[in-house]
Amino acid sequence: MKTKVLLLLVSAMVLVAAATAMAEPIVIKFSHVVAVDTPKGQAAEYFKKLAEERTNGAVKIEVYPNSQLYKDKEEMEALQIGSVQMLAPSLAKFAPLGVKEFEVFDLPFIFDGYDDLHKVTLGPVGKKLLNKLEVKGILGLAYWDNGFKVMSANKPLKTPADFKGLKMRIQSSKILDAQMRVLGAIPQVMAFSEVYQALQTGVVDGTENPPSNLYTQKMFEVQKYVTVSNHGFLGYAVIVNKKFWEKIPVEIRTQLEGAMADATVFANSIAKQKNQEDLASVKASGKSEMIVLSEQERKVWKDVLVKVHTDMADRIGADLIQEVYQAIGVKK
Ligand code: LMR
Repeated sequence: MKTKVLLLLVSAMVLVAAATAMAEPIVIKFSHVVAVDTPKGQAAEYFKKLAEERTNGAVKIEVYPNSQLYKDKEEMEALQIGSVQMLAPSLAKFAPLGVKEFEVFDLPFIFDGYDDLHKVTLGPVGKKLLNKLEVKGILGLAYWDNGFKVMSANKPLKTPADFKGLKMRIQSSKILDAQMRVLGAIPQVMAFSEVYQALQTGVVDGTENPPSNLYTQKMFEVQKYVTVSNHGFLGYAVIVNKKFWEKIPVEIRTQLEGAMADATVFANSIAKQKNQEDLASVKASGKSEMIVLSEQERKVWKDVLVKVHTDMADRIGADLIQEVYQAIGVKK
């Protein structure tokens, strides 16, 4: 009799344990390097909200902003080994993975604005690029916009000649390296999380960023001049570990894909305005003087910098550059 009761008790415990295990949510760690109050930061929070609501709590999204969990290079490695499941690195950060083609987005003056950009990111060329990640064990789910970059330094940067000899922080992209060299500057690759301090202590003289990053990382407080040049684009691809993603039950995965599609619309609807607001806040702070290039001054920059398109064609692929030109409908 005693054994029977014990057996019943044990089976009840096993059942409870099984039920608890079944109720355990699928945890997706989503790591990124920027502040919460940025286009990427806000979109990550929105995706979390939609994903958790739509899966009725079967999925839990843990968002780690501001390089809290991993810095640029580490986060890519962490995704591949499965320590995080979702990232949204900037497109300039995919070459070290071995997918150099993403650097096409870094070409100076390739996009005249968001409309041009979307012809690529929302079209077949963008899709083809995302597909290239698969052999690396990564799935590309979407492109998220940030914005067009400004240059900053402690001296006014009005003409290409003003860059001569300046140490400029760049992301890990050979195109950005070439861009700075064409300007006569000395490019220095550095993790995003280290830029503020490097600017403050003079390890580098200047940098480039969309206003949302310049503002939220307080870089403008340690840069006397900001030039609104809009010379290049910075945006993101949302990526997941392929093995992990494909193990998620289809029904839940479909809900997550829907949440991602809506979060993408959201991201791309706030990016432009957020950057405009942050640029206005930098200006209002009075901490750095703002130089807005006239059309003519901007053309001088463009004439010098488009050289990078041909100089770097072998690295990115001349065909891909042509495909992007065609998608935009411009012969450059
Ligand atoms: C940078 O390193 O400057 C950016 O890629 C940071 C980001 O994610 O916007």
